[in-house]
Amino acid sequence: MLPVNCWRSVGRFTPTDLFTTMDELGGWHFNVGAMPYNDTWRKHRRLYQQNFRPVAVQKIQPIQRRKIHDLVINLLNSPEDFDQHVSTATEAIIMTTLYGYDIAKTDDPFVEVAEKAMRLRAIFLIPGSFPISELPFAKYLPSWAPGCEYTKELQDRPFKFAMEQKSKGKAASISSLVTDLVEQLQEDDPDYAQKLQHIRNMASTSYLAGNTTTKSVILTFMLAMTLNPHIQTKAQEEIDRVIGTNRLPDFSDREKLPYVEAVYRETMRWYPPAPLGTPRKAMQTDCYNGYCIPEGTTVYPNLWAMSRDETLYHEPHQFIPERFLDSSGPFTGINDILLFGFGRRVCAGRYLADASVWMAVVSILTTLRLEKAKDVEGNEVHVEWNYTDGLICFPRQFRCSITPRGPQYLLISPE
Ligand code: HEM
Repeated sequence: MLPVNCWRSVGRFTPTDLFTTMDELGGWHFNVGAMPYNDTWRKHRRLYQQNFRPVAVQKIQPIQRRKIHDLVINLLNSPEDFDQHVSTATEAIIMTTLYGYDIAKTDDPFVEVAEKAMRLRAIFLIPGSFPISELPFAKYLPSWAPGCEYTKELQDRPFKFAMEQKSKGKAASISSLVTDLVEQLQEDDPDYAQKLQHIRNMASTSYLAGNTTTKSVILTFMLAMTLNPHIQTKAQEEIDRVIGTNRLPDFSDREKLPYVEAVYRETMRWYPPAPLGTPRKAMQTDCYNGYCIPEGTTVYPNLWAMSRDETLYHEPHQFIPERFLDSSGPFTGINDILLFGFGRRVCAGRYLADASVWMAVVSILTTLRLEKAKDVEGNEVHVEWNYTDGLICFPRQFRCSITPRGPQYLLISPE
């Protein structure tokens, strides 16, 4: 497998059979990210295009604002559980948006099932980590094979919940994307069953693709702020100068806060949650940088290496937001953000993810101060820049102190 460090050359590959077989084995055939490039994939992509384009995701802003404000309150109430609070917030944004299913508690039964399914998937998807998955017959394993029941529940349970709300006539009060889309279907349409399945697939894929990735980026931001207090102060000074201290920043303030935007952009660069993106297969024999890539070769787009390209990013391992304040400024459009991938398989939920992460960055900066924790003798606890391995990577557990920065957190309205 060849690492590809030039994103421009990656667009001509398609997701690999290896990825697809392993996803099928775990019962993940609904996953849009692993579908081959064909008509079925195009139909799913169209659903994303209609419902997750910039104008469409504006409707989701109230949910994002609410769930991120809840995150701030949770961080203040039990700062030692910050990792769990970030999980709850990212799960809640997706589940409320897609299914109208509000995750109020951290021990929510659905989340438990979903986490089991995701852990299993992580094992299946590390090539070579689970050799049986690479055998051709593996895809014919029965649906009762270990783990498949969790995958099925991940799809079925929230969908059933949304449909029950609809049948009870609650869809208007608990609005959700799934119920809105199902309502638009005509039951006498010959493609009704297929269209319904596509809505289900889109919703489950969004949980799969959008939850842990967003969590990882928010944790990266918290790690960066803990390690770089001067940057945190500079961003907070900008917020105080532009917004003042009598209200909380909102999405409409984004363009007035270039330094906060630069912090956001640097967070997105510093550690891509999916460092090897998703694997591709060369559709035709190709030459790149003196390498011959035969047709059918599995190729990993090395997002990690791209984010460390010294010709673009001076001292790439350092967290330096100023690098985005050059002549073009930090507001250069979402397609410049490498961590969302590229080409026709670029992340389909990137506008939603972008808004969730920005809201978390600006809200935490406005209300909280993140610092290194102190031990019982008053010495700072060492914090390391250290990440887990795997398909999706997270900062390894670290300790930090989280305190109110001032009275700003009191501006958060109770639900
Ligand atoms: C910060 C959060 C996120 C990151 C870092 C991220 C990153 C990625 C990456 C790297 C890919 C593969 C792109 C490629 O192969 O070129 C991808 C694909 C995808 N993402 Fe995201 N993603 C995030 C959030 C989301 C959200 C919130 C959703 C859904 C609402 C979503 C839905 C998808 C889908 C459906 C695909 C598959 C696209 C396809 O194969 O056509 N992602 N994402």
